[in-house]
Amino acid sequence: MTTITTNSQFAIELKNIVKTYEKSQTESLEVLKGISLKIPHGQFTSLMGPSGSGKSTLLQVMGALDVPTNGEVIVNGSPIHKMDDQSLTLFRRRHLGFIFQFFNLLPTLTAQENVALPALLDGKSFHELKNKVKDLLSQLGLGDRLNHFPHQLSGGEMQRVAIARSLINQPLVILADEPTGNLDSKTGNEVLAMFRKLTKENNVTVVMVTHDLNAANVGDKILRLRDGLIDAETLASSSLTTPNKNILQTPQSH
Ligand SMILES: Nc1ncnc2c1ncn2[C@@H]1O[C@H](COP(=O)(O)OP(=O)(O)OP(=O)(O)O)[C@@H](O)[C@H]1O
Ligand SMILES: [Mg+2]
Repeated sequence: MTTITTNSQFAIELKNIVKTYEKSQTESLEVLKGISLKIPHGQFTSLMGPSGSGKSTLLQVMGALDVPTNGEVIVNGSPIHKMDDQSLTLFRRRHLGFIFQFFNLLPTLTAQENVALPALLDGKSFHELKNKVKDLLSQLGLGDRLNHFPHQLSGGEMQRVAIARSLINQPLVILADEPTGNLDSKTGNEVLAMFRKLTKENNVTVVMVTHDLNAANVGDKILRLRDGLIDAETLASSSLTTPNKNILQTPQSH
């Protein structure tokens, strides 16, 4: 994979993001209370905070999967809060890789079809994608699960299929919601090393939600969300010094 061409100084810029859920006609829940932040290209940011503090909500706002009640979201220089649905769909598919907390795999597609899907939707044929899909799944230890359906996979295996899917279109930004939550420590470390390598060598930006401080410390920065605001920003101390070479040879080329 070649280094990402960027259009702006920051990969992600949030300006005064507010997200309110209406609980009833009279009651509302303000989950995000005016968050502003700037994430440079190539940075690996970990997002931590208690359950219910709004981490998934914030990630979904960054990925234009959820609309903020107020505020601006600028990704690679594009004000995505101003885009119409069609432009957003294309933007997400081409530039963002999303790993959901609950995977969101399509149950009627096999592992390799799920991984290929974002590229198929972008007009590529399965034939031209087949080798790349197989390489990605093999690197994630699923070379012998290509034709399994999600219900025939373990939770950790589904997680890895979702990770492979997020990488198929060589995204500019990877938004990962607890990507290692279901993985054993060895596989988890390999996924973290893969993110580390993509950020350092390919200028990809990763924002990862995690409850695991060791995982968070593999990144560059740790942001802590509390009571609807980022209440702390610290530098991470990388704990992975010798990344696994095999997993790092992501077969991506622009
Ligand atoms: N669609 C919704 N309608 C109403 N409330 C919601 C909705 N989605 C989320 N919430 C509420 O917003 C808050 C933040 O949710 P969110 O999923 O962002 O938390 P989180 O930090 O990711 O938690 P966890 O660590 O448990 O995954 C929670 O209190 C949740 O109940
Ligand atoms: Mg969550």
